[in-house]
Amino acid sequence: MTAPFRLHPNPRYAPAPEDPAAPVIQPERRAAARAAITGFEGYRPTPLHRLDGLAASLGIGTLWLKDEGGRFGLGSFKALGGAYAVVHMLRERLEGAVSIEDVAAGRAAARVADVTVCCATDGNHGLAVAWGARRAGARCTVFLPGPVSMGRERAIAAQGAAIRRVDGSYDEAVRACAEEAAAQGWLLVSDTSHAGGDEAPSRVMHGYAMLADEIRQALAGTAPTHLFVQAGVGGLAAALIGAFRQDAGAASPRGIVVEPMSADCLYQSALAGSPRPASGDLDTVMACLAAAEVSPLAWQVLATGAFAFMALDDAGAVDAMRFAAAPLADDPALVLGESGAAALAGLMAAAGERDARAALGLDAQARVIVIGSEGATDPEIYRRLVGRDPAAVAAG
Ligand SMILES: Cc1ncc(COP(=O)(O)O)c(C=O)c1O
Repeated sequence: MTAPFRLHPNPRYAPAPEDPAAPVIQPERRAAARAAITGFEGYRPTPLHRLDGLAASLGIGTLWLKDEGGRFGLGSFKALGGAYAVVHMLRERLEGAVSIEDVAAGRAAARVADVTVCCATDGNHGLAVAWGARRAGARCTVFLPGPVSMGRERAIAAQGAAIRRVDGSYDEAVRACAEEAAAQGWLLVSDTSHAGGDEAPSRVMHGYAMLADEIRQALAGTAPTHLFVQAGVGGLAAALIGAFRQDAGAASPRGIVVEPMSADCLYQSALAGSPRPASGDLDTVMACLAAAEVSPLAWQVLATGAFAFMALDDAGAVDAMRFAAAPLADDPALVLGESGAAALAGLMAAAGERDARAALGLDAQARVIVIGSEGATDPEIYRRLVGRDPAAVAAG
């Protein structure tokens, strides 16, 4: 019995890059992000775990999970985007002969101390932005929609950020933040392009594209056939799919974009052929994916770059969290948070159903990458859902 899901193979799929004259994911911007991020103190690639036991049980060839739980000690891939965009934009604002390394290491702190960086977040992006601002020595204000847990709020506040609660959804917090940024002259580091322009979300996405570099390096010449990636506004999925298309063209893996059923803005956009809001009420255990509106910049890549879109029931994500914590055979035990488990849940659901397997080409030759985008970013929620302490799971 697999958890309920909907699958929409993308009729507009075209594996070649989008407009080669003006791609959303640009080689020079990728190189700039790579140079800056690899210079961050504590940078190291996250593990790409090979899960042979699970691959065999799903009837696919090979399965790897990119485990972002240990990224910079922040629990998710998000620092690659948010923190990088903060230091990049602070440096642009300084306009002087200061390097991005100096800004990132706090050596320009006296010059950015009066700058306030801000963003809206479901949790992880705000933590990443607050972390980047703190290291640089800038101020930070983070706008949180009503449903974000107190555990996540405390983690962001612990990075020195001021918190503004918005009585509404993530998308309403995005708008409130953009208005305040315009009124106060704050530096808006948004991870979605529907408020505040394209520059910040573009830098954020180029930071995320580092994941594709790390995956390619770890695979050392083996070409994956499928990539399951979870989505909120679509920035992560677009960065990865865009980067793979840039590097491998028609040989890039089929990107399958997984969202919660109640926050299915990309799925609905794919059905309609242009951006549409989510069909549900955004009430989902996959809290970091609870977005009602796509990022238009991400959509430019995903409209033709995604092979398929999936909308998934909450039960699937929780099952995948529990499964990862108590794996098969010699597979490692993995700590995946609610949103972090969504891509694995998508693969498990699709691989368990005949028509979905056929539509996606999941067979004994498939070499599948799944993104584990976060660890237990709220340990309390993790304990409630999995029934075990994340530290005990990680200890094996
Ligand atoms: C853990 C996690 N996974 C995936 C995503 C989705 O990223 P995007 O909103 O760019 O689609 C987020 C976004 O906050 C996240 O926190």
